[in-house]
Amino acid sequence: MARFLTFLAVLSTTFRAHGTPTEAAPAAKSSYCAKFDDLPENPGGFDPATDPVGTYKGISYLGFVVATQHNSAEKYFNIPSQPNIINSGTQSRDLYGGSPALQINTTATGGPKDTFTLTSLRLACLVTNGALTSNANGCTVLFVGNKRSGARSVTYEYEYPNQNTNPGPGTPLATFGTVTFPNNFKGLSEVFISLTAVQNDVIGVDPLLDNVCLSIQG
Ligand SMILES: *[C@@H]1O[C@H](CO)[C@@H](O)[C@H](O)[C@H]1NC(C)=O
Repeated sequence: MARFLTFLAVLSTTFRAHGTPTEAAPAAKSSYCAKFDDLPENPGGFDPATDPVGTYKGISYLGFVVATQHNSAEKYFNIPSQPNIINSGTQSRDLYGGSPALQINTTATGGPKDTFTLTSLRLACLVTNGALTSNANGCTVLFVGNKRSGARSVTYEYEYPNQNTNPGPGTPLATFGTVTFPNNFKGLSEVFISLTAVQNDVIGVDPLLDNVCLSIQG
């Protein structure tokens, strides 16, 4: 056995000495689907500035708050994994500016050059229209991923279908869609999410997220 290990060690040294031009893929430090269910329920504040999700398992969810079916708009949605989801906060885009983002927090992960691969997530669009009712109307979601290496950004567009335009008693709960990212969503330092509602007469549109599946490489 000892001899076999020595042989392997020599082999790998030889390979390194002759050098392959591309570096080996960084090792996965962790791989998981974030369900946010161990976070405290939001006491009712929907301002990401005062009630932020913050950093969860190495990723900072910028511009997001925790929400549950107890909240006035989320009660119309079938939550993928109970009880929590994250929401970019009522009218966050309109009132607080910027688009919500997922950003690797290398202080939390411990590796200053760490990156992440975004695999999939569950998403619904919460659309607030002119009558100030919030529901799951159609929306176009653009994900822009920035690479740690400085390579060209990657983009992916997802269409969330119209679910129901008249939430209320007897209306089935709206379902979340599943976004599966192409395999160039890797080596990322951040992913911005921007939404455009399909209908007119819209005051705000927010992404609701759950089951964010990713892996962190270092
Ligand atoms: C990043 O993580 C560190 C350590 O956990 C934390 O103190 C800091 O607030 C986090 N930054 C953001 C933007 O969430």
